[in-house]
Amino acid sequence: MKYICSRCNKTEDITTHKPACECGGLWKLDYRNNKFSNTMIVKEHWNMMRYKNFIPVNSKTWAEISLGEGMTPMVRLNKNLLLKMDYLMPTLSFKDRGAAVLIAHCRDIGVKSVVQDSSGNAGNSIAAYCARAGIDCEIFVPEGASEKKIEMIKSHNAEVTVVPGSRDHCADVCRKKVQTEGKYYANHVYNPFFYEGTKTYIYEVYEELKYIPQNIYVPLGNGTLFIGIMKGLEDLLAAGLIEKMPQIIAVQSENCAPIAEAVKNREKTPADINISSTLAEGIAIGRPMRGPEILDYIYKYSIDVITAPENRISKAKAELAAEEIYIEDTTAATYAAYLKYSQSRESNVESLLPMCGAGLKK
Ligand SMILES: Cc1ncc(COP(=O)(O)O)c(C=O)c1O
Ligand SMILES: [Zn+2]
Repeated sequence: MKYICSRCNKTEDITTHKPACECGGLWKLDYRNNKFSNTMIVKEHWNMMRYKNFIPVNSKTWAEISLGEGMTPMVRLNKNLLLKMDYLMPTLSFKDRGAAVLIAHCRDIGVKSVVQDSSGNAGNSIAAYCARAGIDCEIFVPEGASEKKIEMIKSHNAEVTVVPGSRDHCADVCRKKVQTEGKYYANHVYNPFFYEGTKTYIYEVYEELKYIPQNIYVPLGNGTLFIGIMKGLEDLLAAGLIEKMPQIIAVQSENCAPIAEAVKNREKTPADINISSTLAEGIAIGRPMRGPEILDYIYKYSIDVITAPENRISKAKAELAAEEIYIEDTTAATYAAYLKYSQSRESNVESLLPMCGAGLKK
C-alpha cells in the first residue's frame, strides 16, 4: 500500500514522515479495502475494531492503543429523526474514530513525537491516543479555544500552544513547525489514515439499521467526517448493499462558508471569503485543505450545502438539552440547520444527524 499525491499522482511509501507531496498536494491512500460484508465484520469486538478487515492498519497495534472507540448508540428523537451519539466517545467527540487509526499507524512506523492543530476536539483525541501509544504530542489551538478542551488536552500530557488569530492562522503556525523542525504532522486533514477511521460512522449505521436513512446531515469544516461518510457510503454502494446514495446535506457556518459559496458558482476550489465570528467554531474553517476533493463529491453526488442560521444555534442547543441531549455549539448548529432546511422540504423523510461533540467541553 502506498500514498498517492492527489495533485501530481506521485507515489510514496506510507512509512514516510512527509506531511504532503513536494508539489503541495495532499496524500490519498492508494488502496481498495475488502468489499464490505456482514461476514467480514469481527463481531467479538464490541467497538470499531470489528471493522478491522476494512481498515488498512495493523490491528495488533490498534488493539494496544484502543480506548474502545465506536459503536455509538442511535436515538430516535421522533418518527423522522435519528441522532447518532458520537459525543459518547472516549474523548467526547467523533474525532476518536480517526485518531485511533491514525495514531496506530504512527506507532507502527516508529513516530516518536507529533504536532497537530485543532479547534479543540481533534487535538484532544490525538493527545489521548498519543498518550496511550507513548508518543510525545504538541497541540496548537487558536485563541478563544474552549478552556475545557485545553484543560482536557493537557490532562493527556500533551503540550498546548495557544496561537493568537484565526483557526486558519493557527494551522499555518503548526505547519511551519512541521517544516522547520521536521515534526510528524498527525493532522486530521492531511493524513489519509484519519478518514479510514471516520468511515466507520456509516458502517455502524448500516450494521444497526440494515439500511441507510434517506437524508444524512453532516457538518462541514475541513470535512473529516464528511469524507469518511462518503467513503463509507461508496463502500456500501460497491458492495451492492445500497442501490443509490442517500441525500447528503452538508452544513457550514453562516459566517464561514467557503464551500457553500463555491457551490453557488460551481467552482472547483473553495471560495475566498471573509470570516466573522461564529458559535460553530468547530466548522469555522476558511481554507479547507481538501476543498477540491470535497467539491468533487458534492458535484458527483448532488450534495446540498446549506448554512446554519447563527441566530438559532443557542435555541437549538437548548431544545436538545431539554431532551437530555447535551451537545456543544458546533453540533447545535447542525440541528439548527436541520430545523430550518427540513421545514421547507418533504416532511415524511427520515434524517440522520451526527451528535459530534459534548456540551461539557464548552
Ligand atoms: C464538534 C465538531 N463538529 C464538527 C466538526 C467538523 O469536522 P470537520 O472540520 O472535519 O469537517 C468538528 C471539527 O473540529 C467538531 O469539533
Ligand atoms: Zn504531488
